[in-house]
Amino acid sequence: MKYLIANWKMNLGIKESVELSKKISGEIESDKIKTIVLCPSFASLAEVSEVIKKSSLKLGAQDIFWVNKGAFTGEVGAPELKEIGVEFVIVGHSERRHIVGETDEVIAKKMKLAADFGLRPILCVGETGDERENEQAEKRVAEQLDLGLQLLDNAQISKILIAYEPVWAIGTGKACSPDDALSMFVLIKKVLQEKFSENNIPILYGGSTDDKNIASYIEAGYAGALVGGSSLKPLTFLKMKEAIE
Ligand code: 13P
Repeated sequence: MKYLIANWKMNLGIKESVELSKKISGEIESDKIKTIVLCPSFASLAEVSEVIKKSSLKLGAQDIFWVNKGAFTGEVGAPELKEIGVEFVIVGHSERRHIVGETDEVIAKKMKLAADFGLRPILCVGETGDERENEQAEKRVAEQLDLGLQLLDNAQISKILIAYEPVWAIGTGKACSPDDALSMFVLIKKVLQEKFSENNIPILYGGSTDDKNIASYIEAGYAGALVGGSSLKPLTFLKMKEAIE
């Protein structure tokens, strides 16, 4: 199975999200070998869910809280997300790590809660530019995997996805070279196998992907992409879907 996951971040209002999901769902036919997921903001989830419910598109949330219910002002819980029709959840995106200050420990709790509620969490990992320059990229990604997955049992780990998103490649137009992406793919596979005895977890690439470069990541072994900017352009996004045959 290949995955193309649109992370719209905080770029669209509710009307714009509805319009974009209509454009995409109108062009997507049911496909047994590709899963296409739209991740609008929390505020747009319910309306986008209505638009795509008769299509093969799946719904994802951009974040989740680590407790399911209670006095947690401003947070959104797993039962609520499920009620809306959410199936996937992005966890530990670099913008949450670096702008909001989420730690690996918080991310581990979010992974656990999402898995406990039968959602498919997408754990985002990736090094900063400084970490890459200082040859710490692999060490940091291995650590993010270790810590982020520490609370999951084997059955839960088998349902997750990993997204390798080098921080320096996100929204910069400087996508990771296929060679560097391949080395990191091999490292992630190795960690998942050695530490968690898992060989079938889909590993996605994210960071300045578009219809021109996505095929090179698939060639390197990635099972698809987590897409930011290009997912806001329906034509480009649809071309990316074609490119991951
Ligand atoms: P860009 O595709 O805009 O670089 O964003 C990647 C990303 O952060 C997806 O989660």
